[in-house]
Amino acid sequence: MFHDNRIEPMSITIKTADEIERMRVAGRLAAEVLEMITPHVVAGITTGELDRICHDYIVNQQQAVPAPLNYNGFPKSICTSVNEVVCHGIPSDRKRLKNGDIVNIDITVIKDGYHGDTSKMFGIGKTIPHTERLMRVTQECLYKAIDIVRPGTTLGDIGHIIQAYAEKNHYSVVREYCGHGIGRVFHEDPQILHYGRPGVGMAIEEGMTFTIEPMLNAGKRHVKLNQKDGWTVSTKDGRNSAQWEHTLAVHADGCEVLTARTEESF
Ligand code: MF3
Ligand code: CO
Ligand code: CO
Repeated sequence: MFHDNRIEPMSITIKTADEIERMRVAGRLAAEVLEMITPHVVAGITTGELDRICHDYIVNQQQAVPAPLNYNGFPKSICTSVNEVVCHGIPSDRKRLKNGDIVNIDITVIKDGYHGDTSKMFGIGKTIPHTERLMRVTQECLYKAIDIVRPGTTLGDIGHIIQAYAEKNHYSVVREYCGHGIGRVFHEDPQILHYGRPGVGMAIEEGMTFTIEPMLNAGKRHVKLNQKDGWTVSTKDGRNSAQWEHTLAVHADGCEVLTARTEESF
């Protein structure tokens, strides 16, 4: 989501066990869309085709709602962000994915009134080692942050662990977009920044549900918004960007990854 620089009195919703169970269902469905689409993410397909496959699966098989569709005017059911696109890429049939490309597919579904939000990177065919490394380090940033999520961890701790690991690996962290609280509302408080200082900011509490979704650039952190479509965010320097996202629920002893895929073990 867009980081709006608010210094707000936060209205964070603490979820009941019953609400977390519904979030668990929504999260699992979102993860299953990423698993379903994986064999289709190959050279020659268009992101428009990927959007239609996901849309039909979410609506017909899952009997859920693709949250991006018509969200603040977004025209499609998923986000597909290719190469230098940082986030919010709009699926289209104008270009086909080709060998060496990378693409982030970001899925958000609504089931029984609750949202599940998750994204991952895909390499098309043979990607060069430098690009593989960008995708891997970005995923490691997400995993390192997930590792420290428990009651008492501060938002600054989360931002710091991501920023420190990204910069140690000579990548930059996008500042303008951030993770977010999530539940009945797609983007709710708090904003989860992917940079920060240890011990700063609000402490996480049991019952919170939020996303972490770091965006790392191979080059400089600066981004630009496509003024024609009003959505597509790209790196200013044209170099590649990667993003991974999970939705989490905070429990007394740690956190639960609501959007975990079968290949992941938390
Ligand atoms: N799924 C994105 C996120 O992680 C938000 C997409 S909003 C859209 O917050 F309108 F672009 F779909
Ligand atoms: Co999100
Ligand atoms: Co998302």
